[in-house]
Amino acid sequence: MTTPHNSAIKGNIAETVLLPGDPLRAKFIAENFLQDVEQFNAVRNMFGYTGTYNGKRVSVMGTGMGCASIGIYSYELIHMYGVKNLIRIGSCGAYDENLKLFDIVLAIGASTDTNFAYQYDLPGTFSATASWELLSNAKKIADENGIHTVVGNIVTSDVFYHDSPDDWKRWAKMGIVAAEMESYALYCNASRAGVNALTILTVSDSIARQSETTPEQREKGFKDMMKIALELA
Ligand code: ADE
Repeated sequence: MTTPHNSAIKGNIAETVLLPGDPLRAKFIAENFLQDVEQFNAVRNMFGYTGTYNGKRVSVMGTGMGCASIGIYSYELIHMYGVKNLIRIGSCGAYDENLKLFDIVLAIGASTDTNFAYQYDLPGTFSATASWELLSNAKKIADENGIHTVVGNIVTSDVFYHDSPDDWKRWAKMGIVAAEMESYALYCNASRAGVNALTILTVSDSIARQSETTPEQREKGFKDMMKIALELA
């Protein structure tokens, strides 16, 4: 069975999927890091591939930007394709001034300004958290490979261009280390379904320090993040 957004049939996709936001990043990862690759999706150019890494079957698929987009793709991966481990690999803007460009954040939790959890009709506020199994393994892999990582709470926002430029400071006061736009929905979908999710982020810009990376510089942070994600898979 296919879905409106994914032309894969059940069995085409591995139990563990790496999820970059950019579908061309998914293509790059498949072509450069995986063996025996087969493409399973091109609907809306949201490319998805399955291959092997060190003999283990693993898939990689783009998610697009924002909770709406990753919400759809991750829901389908879990419920229609039986995916059990969802590992987002993305970029973030640092709110913590101790975070430097290219630092890697393992998102233990995601706070949000989105309304994604309204659908659950909860009598309170849902704290979206990572899978401890994936998080603790990712930290171990990073430490063993000498890769510096920061474990922290992030904020998933619907907004990239904020009307009030100082809004971020209120999140920073709460210990939020960085902002991105997808993890809250990913963690909600995974929690609701009882499967594992983790977000690994490279700092691409710092709101706290007012600095940003060039595309070439991003490549290095990307390689370290890929090392953690692929070993984890
Ligand atoms: N992704 C990378 N940088 C970001 C930022 N500053 N805000 C939200 N998402 C981001």
